[in-house]
Amino acid sequence: MIKRWSVLLLAAGMCASAAGQNKKAPVNYDESLVPAYELPDVLRCADGTRVENAKQWERKRRPELLRMFSELEYGVTPKHTGIEVEHELVAENPNAFGGLATQKQVLFKFTGANGKTHQALLLLYIPNAPKGRVPVIVSYNFHGNQSTTLEEDVIFSPSKEIVAEMGSEKWVRGEQRSRWSYELILRRGYAVATMAYDDIYPDLPHLRPYGISPLFPNYKEGERDADEWGAIGTWAWGYSRIADYLAKERRIDKKRMAVLGHSRLGKTAIWAGVQDKRFKVVMSNDSGCGGAALAKRVFGENIARITAAFPHWFCTAFNQFSENEKALPFDQHELLALVAPRHIYVASAQNDEWADPKGEYLSAYHAGKVYELYGMQGLPSAEQPGIHQPQLYDVGYHYRAGKHDVTEYDWMCYLNYCDKYLK
Ligand code: GCU
Repeated sequence: MIKRWSVLLLAAGMCASAAGQNKKAPVNYDESLVPAYELPDVLRCADGTRVENAKQWERKRRPELLRMFSELEYGVTPKHTGIEVEHELVAENPNAFGGLATQKQVLFKFTGANGKTHQALLLLYIPNAPKGRVPVIVSYNFHGNQSTTLEEDVIFSPSKEIVAEMGSEKWVRGEQRSRWSYELILRRGYAVATMAYDDIYPDLPHLRPYGISPLFPNYKEGERDADEWGAIGTWAWGYSRIADYLAKERRIDKKRMAVLGHSRLGKTAIWAGVQDKRFKVVMSNDSGCGGAALAKRVFGENIARITAAFPHWFCTAFNQFSENEKALPFDQHELLALVAPRHIYVASAQNDEWADPKGEYLSAYHAGKVYELYGMQGLPSAEQPGIHQPQLYDVGYHYRAGKHDVTEYDWMCYLNYCDKYLK
């Protein structure tokens, strides 16, 4: 039987370049202009049968949805990569933050079956006070490990050489530190691990050959199959490689790993958390279009805009939905539901209309149906809560005042949520 989305995929392959990807596609910020849309029922299988229990969800509907998101949005994650990874501890400081934590910097040395090599640098802080193993939060950074703190001994991430322009003010020490509440996280008893996302896939279409991509067996320079992954898929794969390392780290509790990402990295954190069940808590900060936000509301950033501005993030099959969200056979609430019965938390910011806060909330709300199959509690109301009223149910949510960003307030909510479900 030819599945519905296989047909779509074929069509995408044939007309990927002709489709949408319109930089000038209109952007709607008016609630009254949101089109009448019908959300696909997360519990209704492609063949029309209805999922009644967790077993049917896991056996039938979950794999079916996972395949749709792979083949039509993020691209298929390669199963057999032949890539080997060596970890080299390149620095260690038992007295980071005045003795609060032990800092480790670990170089990941990747070697492909084709002999090509690539390197990425992990920065890990482990709190010193707790006895025994601690939970860990894994989260990429945007401008290098050194941008997340003023601690002088943090080494510049290797991708700086590839992505940072000469004299760039972004890649300096501490420039992003407001987004990394390290001392708070460590005092609360969590380890935290970060890596520059550019170390895995430098975030510009023409920089694909300079990341890890050429090490994969199916890599072809300058072209991709319609369902071949892009940057988000590759970054998500990188999150799993970080989990591999942490699972072997003596002080880390591998049963208590969480993944968190902001914005494009929030999209990535969800996709990583969906695929890698070692992440027990998945947290999406302001992830918007292609992340938590419902696509069919077409509010704020839309598929035409995102695929035009960032053609390398998704698989090219996704382009067929540019200015045609109604044709999507799924929506993002079904992606969030794929995390169940592990925990998913979505956060939005008030002045971040581009990411459609209401669409992010509704998506989290509608994912709740799958949690109910497990006797768990989703978000209780279809009404988006007001500012600063965190909802720490099995599906979590908060709506913060302010702009598109990661703040100490966000971290406090994430830590409270992790205390509830990870400790
Ligand atoms: C752009 C993009 C968003 C993305 C954001 C970010 O605004 O359009 O989709 O989430 O960058 O990553 O900061």
